[in-house]
Parts: sequence; structure tokens; C-alpha cells
Amino acid sequence: MLPAQQLSISTPNTSLVLEAPAGGELKYLYYGNKLTDNDLQNLSSSGSPTFSAYPVYGMNCPGETALAVRHADGNMTLQMEVIKSDTKENDKDVTTTIYLKDKVYPFYVNVCYKAYKDVDVIETWTEISHDEKKAVTLNQFASAYLPIRRGNVWLSSLYGSWGNEARLNQEPLHPGMKVIANRDGVRNSHTSHAEVMFSLDGKPQENTGNTIGAALCYSGNYKLRINTDDGDYHQFYAGINEENSAYNLPKDEVFRTPALALTYTQEGLSGASRNFHRWGRLYKLAHGNTLRKILLNSWEGVYFDINQEGMDQMMSDIASMGGELFVMDDGWFGNKYQRNTDNSSLGDWTVDKKKLPEGIDGLLRDAKKHGIRFGLWIEPEMTNTTSELYEKHPEWIIKAPQRDPVQGRGGTQVVLDLANPDVQDFIFGVVDNLMTQYPEIDYIKWDANMSIMNHGSNYLTKDNQSHMYIEYHRGLEKVLQRIRAKYPDLTIQACASGGGRANWGYLPYFDEFWVSDNTDALQRIYMQWGTSYFFPAITMASHISASPNHQTSRSIPLKYRIDVAMSGRLGMEIQPKNMTDTEKELCKKAIADYKMIRPVVQLGDIYRLVSPYDHMGVASLMYVSPEKDKAVFYWWKTEHFINEHLPRVKMAGLQADKLYKIHELNRVDNKPLSFEGKTFSGEYLMANGLELPYRHATSYTNQNDWSSRVLYLEEIK
Ligand code: DGJ
Repeated sequence: MLPAQQLSISTPNTSLVLEAPAGGELKYLYYGNKLTDNDLQNLSSSGSPTFSAYPVYGMNCPGETALAVRHADGNMTLQMEVIKSDTKENDKDVTTTIYLKDKVYPFYVNVCYKAYKDVDVIETWTEISHDEKKAVTLNQFASAYLPIRRGNVWLSSLYGSWGNEARLNQEPLHPGMKVIANRDGVRNSHTSHAEVMFSLDGKPQENTGNTIGAALCYSGNYKLRINTDDGDYHQFYAGINEENSAYNLPKDEVFRTPALALTYTQEGLSGASRNFHRWGRLYKLAHGNTLRKILLNSWEGVYFDINQEGMDQMMSDIASMGGELFVMDDGWFGNKYQRNTDNSSLGDWTVDKKKLPEGIDGLLRDAKKHGIRFGLWIEPEMTNTTSELYEKHPEWIIKAPQRDPVQGRGGTQVVLDLANPDVQDFIFGVVDNLMTQYPEIDYIKWDANMSIMNHGSNYLTKDNQSHMYIEYHRGLEKVLQRIRAKYPDLTIQACASGGGRANWGYLPYFDEFWVSDNTDALQRIYMQWGTSYFFPAITMASHISASPNHQTSRSIPLKYRIDVAMSGRLGMEIQPKNMTDTEKELCKKAIADYKMIRPVVQLGDIYRLVSPYDHMGVASLMYVSPEKDKAVFYWWKTEHFINEHLPRVKMAGLQADKLYKIHELNRVDNKPLSFEGKTFSGEYLMANGLELPYRHATSYTNQNDWSSRVLYLEEIK
């Protein structure tokens, strides 16, 4: 029996406890390991202070708040009281809603918590509404608030930029305010991410330590705040970024804030990642439990130089290496304006018949001939001022009246105003027309290469111009919902100048994302490491590309490039006709082996072992099947010196009493590793690991300064 007025929101291993006294304030009591009945009974006498579970502005001003409004009569205060609470249960989850009302005003906030029954994630959000005579302006509207006890708390977060996405940053929390914010308008994960982890007891560890993870599931601008003032608790707030986005809420509308997904674990950062990955695959990601195809994407192979024969040749090559899908990237469309570079034609989504005389039909026919599937690239939220679409609908772009638009990529790119239902119909139509005409299209790469550079919507009223960012993402979501309703089986990649759209707000509509336009294998280790904190390997498009690399100009042997790409959703981003037969053979073998390990990589549990950010000269991680009968271990050397001393990497996540046989994949050495084909107990592998040679044993002419290993572990019964 719970004490009166107490609400316990629980998952298999965690509890979040609130106090909800009717007529009083909703209070936060606890978030952590699952509590026993006894401890629940005594929680309020544990000495822990209570906090408002959703702090509002106006009656206790000197502090951070989640919600701040201006009522219709100009009053800027709120005082919320609990009216009641209820729970709704189904097979998979339980949603607890606490209904709050202002003491004086007909202003309401529902604070909601959805707790999953088979994964340790709780999603929390609010629903804001009122019955006042005129609109109430929302000046701040966070999704959630969480107090975190001070101690030696460390924050892990991601930062970066184009070509260098998802860099890991780890720092202790200090007094003052830490803000992680996005203002791009269109894409929200280049410069920072809407997900963080808190290591509660000192420097973050991968596989041990009490850890809270938080992921804001929102595709638009966000703001995460961690305030450390004179109190004993850090105060964490997460929600839509309210800057330039004050929202005039009319009486008959409910403003629903995006969900903040919370997880708690004692298994360190990797433990929190495993929870997010599992939750993501089960409940968020499009087709989260379906294995992804191995593909060749045309971009780095031919860029805009698209033509029928070239596409046919690439399809033939990827098919002969065992690939399953070919994706034609940018450059295939535009009639009045040909898309030969990035300065025109977005919006004119008809096939360029000069480049592709037999159109998409011809390409689909070729794909069928080679026994693979076909996909193509679009960037439907955008247009160029040099395009037929812009000539027809200049009023559809985002820009302020009386201002010339600031133009982006190619000097002519502009963003369509997704607040406008006509624009939504148009964008839906881009996909719908393609799929109606060519139902065999299997995959769409949906790109977005520009920020909102101009504030202004021609569709929204003068008073509601500040709704532009929010309405853009509502419009986008409506379009994506329509697409998913009509084309549930289509595979769609979220690409946004590389990794601009890695967020759980997008992923319910997308199968995966392009991690970065930077395909350099060494830098990918760092980016994919950071990305893996919150997103499973199945979402991470990771392609073998040319050497020297097109972004960094670094030359890396194919073996190493393969070994890195195989740790995500494997693909290729290369002109195969420039590869030697030996290189093609190596890729063919890797693709065949990837098919064998694909279920473990894409659906398994991640254990990060040695971080590249620790600069130990090596990075290592592994995936383990849920049954713990198979695992794939990756080891990439990140530095190369004579007489260097690399750590011996201990494995993790195996079952101690199982025996595992070791087999090296992508071997280039003249002789097998000493432990090839040998079996070791999980206990030995986790306590000691295996001693990996620092270099590859190859002929003198094949020696180089890169080494990497992929080991496949299979249980022997
Ligand atoms: C940016 C993407 O990230 C690339 O992969 C490629 O699709 C180009 N756009 C095409 O313009």
C-alpha cells in the first residue's frame, strides 16, 4: 500500500515517486532504483526534501521554472494545485496523469508520465490548456523538470558541427547554469544534442555507476538547462526552446509539450544506452526490429554526375558484392533548371530526362535485373530561388515581409513554410507522387540542408509570427504521419547535411539517419561513439568510402574502413568502378560476414569498452545478442607509435559460464590470430580479454600504420 497521496511510477527496475495532495502542490520525491513497499512507505521520512514536480513562475520568482505565462488579463503568475490523478494501462505501458489547475484562473496543466513495462524508460510531458476569455501567452514551456542530488555529478553530452557530429563532452557539474540549446529551426543535432546523461557518483564509467539518461523527443529547437545554485540539488529542465517562440494559446487548444524520455541504471553509461536503444527499437524507431539492407549510395561515387549507364554500373557492382539496395542521391531531377550543382531545382521533383532518358522506370528495371532494391534522394522541405516551384509559389518560403530572403546552400536555397497546409500537401505529394508512380521504390533518403535563416511566415497571422518554429515542426510531423500512414513499409533515411537529424522526435518516422557527411573512418569512430550513447547501431548509416577520404583527405586502408563501417548499419559510399578486384573481393567477403553478424549488431546490446576520447591509443566496443550466445567485438587502433603500450581490452556483457569460440572477421594477416577457433569462458574474456597484436602480419609491401580487428564470438554448447 502506498502512503495516501503518493504516486509511484515504475518500470521493471526503476521508480519515480510523486506526492499529489488534492488542493496542494504536485511534488517530486524520488527517481532511482525500484523501491520496495517498505521503502516507499518510509520515503517521505528519509530526509529527502521535496520539490515542485513542475515549477511554475510567479509566486516564488527567484528560481528557474518550467512554465511561465501571461494570462489574458496581463497577470504573469501561476499557482498550480492538484485536482486529481488517474492511470491508464495497456499491455506495454502505464500512463499516470496528474491534473493541475491554477488556484484562481481557469488554467490547467496535466503532468503525464508513461512508464514502460518491459524497459526502464519513463516518458514525461505536459498538456497545457485554459478557459480564459482571450489567449494566454506561454513564454516558457518545458516538458519536464528533474532535481538531481549534488555530489560528484558528471554530465555527458554531445556537441559538434557539420562533418564532426556527436563529439562526446564529459564534465563535472559546477555552480552556475549549463545550457544546451538548438536554434537551427530545421535540424537539431549538428551543434548539440537534445540528450544527456548524468553520472551520479563521480567520473563517468561505461559499465558501472548510477546513471540517469534523458532524451528530449523533439524535432525542433530545444533547450536543456542544468541550474546549480545554492541548493543541494542540480535542477534539470528540458523542453522546446522558447526563444523567439512565445506561444499564444487560444482557449480551445491543448499545448502538448514533447516527451522527455528518462532512464535510470546502475550499469553506467553503456547501461543507459542499452535502455535507450531497447526502448527506441521497441517503441520509437520506424521498423525498429527489422534488419536493414546493405546499400550503395551514389553521392561520393558520382556526386551530381547522374546518368543511366552510371547508375546501372553502380547497381551491378553493389549487387556483385552482395549488397541489397542501391540509392541514387542528389542530381536526378529538374527540367527547366537542371540540377548539376547545388544552386537550383529543389522543389522540381521530376526526372531529368536528359540524364535519365528512361526515367525512374529504367532504374527500377535495372535494379530488378541485378536482383537488388532501389531508392532515391529528395529534399522536400526546401526550394531554390532558381526553380520552377519558387517561380510559381514565392509565397511558400519562410521569410519576413519587406525583406529579401537570406539564401543558403548554393546561394539560392530557401526553406518552405511548413506551417502552411498547402506546403504540407505539396511535401506529402512529393513522396506520394513518387510512390504512386513507382511503387517499387524501396527507400527514400530525405535530406534537409539548410537552417531557418529568415524569421517569417506568410501563412501565420501577424500576432502569431512567434509560432513559426513550432508550427514548422508540427507541419513536418503531420506530413510524416500522412506518409507513414500510407506507406508504412517504405524505408526512409533522415539525412540533414549529415547528422543534423539524430533525435527521437524524428525517428518514429525514419528508419535510420546519416551519421555525418564525414566518412573518414578514424573520425567516424569518435562520431559513432558519441552517437551510440543514445541511438542504436541499427539507426547509424555507416558507409565504406574512398581513400583518400573526400572530407579529410586522409588515406586509410580498406580493411580499417570496413571494420569501422561494420559497427553500424553497413553501406558503401564509393565509386566501385575505381576499386581493384582485390578490394571488391574484400568488400564482398565483409558484406557476407556482415549478413551473419547483422542481427547482433543491429538488434544486440552495446557494451562500450575503451573510449577513443580517453586517448589510450585504441577504441573498442562490442555488441552482444540478447540471449548472450553471440557477440561481435571491435578494436580499432587510433594512434600508431613504435613501442606503444595499448591496454588489454576486457570484454563485457557476456555470460560468465558460457564458452565462446573466437573467429576473426575481415582477416588480412598472413596467419590466423593465436586464438582463432579457440574457446574461452565469458568469465575469462570479461576478466582478462584477449591480447591483440598491435599490427597486422602482412607482407612488407602491405604493411601500414593502421590496425583494427573484428572478432565474432559464438557460444559453444
Ligand atoms: C547532404 C547529404 O548529407 C549528402 O549525403 C548528400 O545527400 C548531399 N546533401 C546531396 O546534396
